[in-house]
Amino acid sequence: MLKKWSAAVLAGALAVGALAGCGGGDDAGSSGGGGDDKITMGFSQVGAESGWRTANTKSIQESAAAAGIDLKFSDAQGKQENQIKAIRSFIAQRVDVIAFSPVVESGWDTVLKEAKDANIPVILTDRSVDSQDKTLYKTFIGSDFVLEGKKAGEWLVKEYEGKSDPVNIVELQGTPGAAPANDRKAGFAEVIKADPKFKIVASQTGQFTRTDGKEVMEAFLKSQPKIDVLYAHNDDMGLGAIEAIEAAGKKPGTDIKIITVDAVKDGMTALAAGKINYIVECSPLLGPQLMDLAKKVKAGETVEQRVLTQETTFTQEQAKTALPDRKY
Ligand code: AHR
Repeated sequence: MLKKWSAAVLAGALAVGALAGCGGGDDAGSSGGGGDDKITMGFSQVGAESGWRTANTKSIQESAAAAGIDLKFSDAQGKQENQIKAIRSFIAQRVDVIAFSPVVESGWDTVLKEAKDANIPVILTDRSVDSQDKTLYKTFIGSDFVLEGKKAGEWLVKEYEGKSDPVNIVELQGTPGAAPANDRKAGFAEVIKADPKFKIVASQTGQFTRTDGKEVMEAFLKSQPKIDVLYAHNDDMGLGAIEAIEAAGKKPGTDIKIITVDAVKDGMTALAAGKINYIVECSPLLGPQLMDLAKKVKAGETVEQRVLTQETTFTQEQAKTALPDRKY
């Protein structure tokens, strides 16, 4: 039995070595923390699907280096199974803290229990899990995605205030099962349902990527006789959709109003240029707070169960002002 367990642990450790991408202290095969005072953090990232994700990875890597934390970074390439393998490997290496941004919301209880049994604290970043047992992780730092969806809906309601004609909306959803896709959809729907003139005529995943956003928008343009509004769950899908709209001979931002979420530099540039109408911000700069939390957790201090990110919204005029200082 013991032999079997050791073999599984070794296999896990080797697997994360293969999955590991860039990052500070990327020595996936070495022993973890415990020996000296330096904190070792195992971090499993979703992938590199969007501009937001690239900025988030940079923030985590730079903040770990600045905080003197040894980061073992693993890129899951959008797959939950890769994240589970990486977490098992971090447990085998006895890192001090495990942090990860879950690709999807469900299916984490078993591996989180393994980390808890091994006495390794877990911090969720960016996205949460739907586990009922909140003792499986120490804290969750990230945005309120339902609120983001609501903010998108509220802008739309205001934009069409006093008008009675039907408003046909197409929606580009994020990765199926991911917290931001579920919550941004729910928050938006909750706000617009108050007025029956708003109708979501088509809604499909664009996987949070520019390529899929473009492809799905092309299909929407072919299948839908009248599209008034596009609601995209992130900037990248919105930017891909803009290419499709322009290729179809329509003017994005005018013929079709566009609302997106994130406010990365490319999105803000399109907003300032009038091709997007409104962006709800979602901040990827979670690194500094994550490193602070890791230090507190390692020191045995109590941390808040939920750490909320501060965010705003941008109109076209506000984007023009903010753009020169936008770092990501
Ligand atoms: O979880 C955050 C979301 O994931 C971002 O809004 C999106 O761009 C990313 O891929």
